[in-house]
Amino acid sequence: MTGKQEVFQILSEHQGEYLSGEELAKQLHISRNAVWKAVSALRAENHEILASTRKGYSLVTSAGDRKQSTPVNCEEIMAAVTNREIMPRVLVLEETDSTNRVAKELAMKGAEEGTLVVAVRQSAGRGRLGRSFFSPEGGIYMSLLLRPKLPAEQAVLLTTAAAVSVARAMEKVAKVSAGIKWVNDIFLDGKKVCGILTEAGIDFETGMPEYAVLGIGINVEVEEVSEELLPLVCFLNEKAKEPVNKSRLVAAIWDEFMEIYPCLSEAKFMDEYCARSILLGKEVLVKDPKGDYLAKVSSIDHAGHLLVETKEGMRILSTGEVSIRPASGTSFL
Ligand code: BTN
Repeated sequence: MTGKQEVFQILSEHQGEYLSGEELAKQLHISRNAVWKAVSALRAENHEILASTRKGYSLVTSAGDRKQSTPVNCEEIMAAVTNREIMPRVLVLEETDSTNRVAKELAMKGAEEGTLVVAVRQSAGRGRLGRSFFSPEGGIYMSLLLRPKLPAEQAVLLTTAAAVSVARAMEKVAKVSAGIKWVNDIFLDGKKVCGILTEAGIDFETGMPEYAVLGIGINVEVEEVSEELLPLVCFLNEKAKEPVNKSRLVAAIWDEFMEIYPCLSEAKFMDEYCARSILLGKEVLVKDPKGDYLAKVSSIDHAGHLLVETKEGMRILSTGEVSIRPASGTSFL
């Protein structure tokens, strides 16, 4: 057996566990550099191996069991879109810094509603609250340009509608059961699979959005993920029975969103948003610039506000972030 085959054998015997480079080198009587070379060669053959500086190497999926999807493709998206009330104008980029940035730039140059920018990977993906969004190849990164005729205070409905659309589309295409974590994260089995970032340009004279860009990032399959992210996120292909066709998922999101969009301000979809909420009745930690506090989620209203019960009484949150508090047995209220 070659060093590469031996490294593979040991990692497969301990699939999902971490083995340090030192441990592997000792067992196989080879150098740590040879272990590293073997791991690189195995990755090049499509085996999914995580590497952590502290813990070592861990085989997640071997190439034979790998559920792989093909990259997004403009023609395939266009062919799969069924709702053409607004004409989709699809732009697929191999790499960009951020599809939201590109869509905003196009919006400012006068691009029409329905412009959809999709990237295979992003070098500077943006997340909510000024965070970055890890965007390697293997995910879906899409930004939809809209010119909604609704007051700025109702713009949150775009995000909540997008969350419902993504959840519905994932269920149809990947046959998974999707939940929503307020405001706009999609969760599968308690882990985040998708984040949504809506950015808008406001016309200060009318107080109406001049444009809105709905940015959606989905973890479908990813080669490497950092240790901090690993316990928090999941990948659609892990949960789906079949590898997901990314172009079809993009088209399904379009179709679901365009079904809701014409009557957005009626907020009929909010009942479904609440039914899909993974927060209702849960004890949460509310992140607040003035100091985080504990609360219990009582409801979500049709404007997308989160109503929480705290020691000081009820509070209404219009945006922000909450994290689910691990069950401790004792209530804090
Ligand atoms: C979040 O979870 O914080 C929101 C993440 C939104 C990421 C998407 S990926 C496509 C679009 N382009 C970006 O730069 N961000 C959004």
